[in-house]
Amino acid sequence: MKWWAVALTLATWAFCQGPDAVAPEPSLREAAASSSMLIGTAVRTAQLSESAYASTLARQFNMLEPEDALKWEVVHPERQTFDFYQADQIVEFAGRHGMKIRGHTLVWHRQNPKWLTEGKFASTELAEILEKHIKTVVGHYRGKIFAWDVVNEASDEVHPGELRSTIWRDQPGIGPTTNGYGYMERCFRWAHEADPQALLFYNEGADTEAVNAKSDAIYAMVRDFRQRGVPIDGVGLQMHVSNLHADVKSVAANIRRFTALGVQIHITEMDVSLPVDANGNATAADLQAEADVYRKIAVVCLANPGCTAIQTWGFTDKYSWIGSHSKHTQGAALLFDRNYRAKPATEALRNALAAGRP
Ligand code: XIL
Repeated sequence: MKWWAVALTLATWAFCQGPDAVAPEPSLREAAASSSMLIGTAVRTAQLSESAYASTLARQFNMLEPEDALKWEVVHPERQTFDFYQADQIVEFAGRHGMKIRGHTLVWHRQNPKWLTEGKFASTELAEILEKHIKTVVGHYRGKIFAWDVVNEASDEVHPGELRSTIWRDQPGIGPTTNGYGYMERCFRWAHEADPQALLFYNEGADTEAVNAKSDAIYAMVRDFRQRGVPIDGVGLQMHVSNLHADVKSVAANIRRFTALGVQIHITEMDVSLPVDANGNATAADLQAEADVYRKIAVVCLANPGCTAIQTWGFTDKYSWIGSHSKHTQGAALLFDRNYRAKPATEALRNALAAGRP
């Protein structure tokens, strides 16, 4: 090529880039690499075929978790039928993009199929059904799903320190301990038998992220399990933040006391819901305040080497449970807007991740 042709090509390139051309921002997963932090999101199977959804997911995150695809009503729709079709697609996607997979959830009081909740099973039969469920599902993903929420939201919401009344608590609640935690102990043992390598978590939300009477009870359970060799490896703090308030000092203290027991903490379901107008839009000031909550929680997690994952409950405001959950008075809770554009929260989280652990 002649010199003038080279010069012309370069001049044309520079012109096309414009005066403000900058390299693309690093992704969240790139920013997280130096601290080996897992940065994850809940994922909906149906959206994997939407190219902007799939490309944002693969570029930004190094971990994912099926939002609903591993819940009983999806994965175990009839007593004798297990259906892994949805979850398998998510697992396959994660494999293609070098992402770790969390499993959610084996024992919960919601999203259970009617055959189960209305089956009027006796305790022994229900315990058999639960054991078979846990062993089949964990076994199917043995070596693929690295961490499981074995039990989700077992605490009573009204009476701190008590267990919620559920089919599991009330029926197979007949385990080796007498305080009502027996059924959970059995579930952790069954999951461990099915995949001895998987990390097993107790996952909880509704204020237990901070130190209070509810998290005190979970702390006592985890301490007891650890002392007696019940295989529990971690506690998931959901972190659904409404009203822009997260008591970060207390969250830090809570993380400290749990990690001192030798278990890991994962932030499992973070979102920060904002008041929205009829079009689903939040104010600019609220979007900045939201970014600050994401930043503060990331900083608190990074400050403790036992806090090893930060996961959000979805990543685009286009698909978030907050809308339907709040009758559309709240929303805009996630990192990317409905057009997959990064919000101030993404930048705040990315900067916190890039700064690494202290
Ligand atoms: C929510 C899902 O996001 C929704 O799609 C579903 O309709 C209801 O459940 N705590 C949990 C999650 O542990 O499983 C819940 O997910 C949100 C609250």
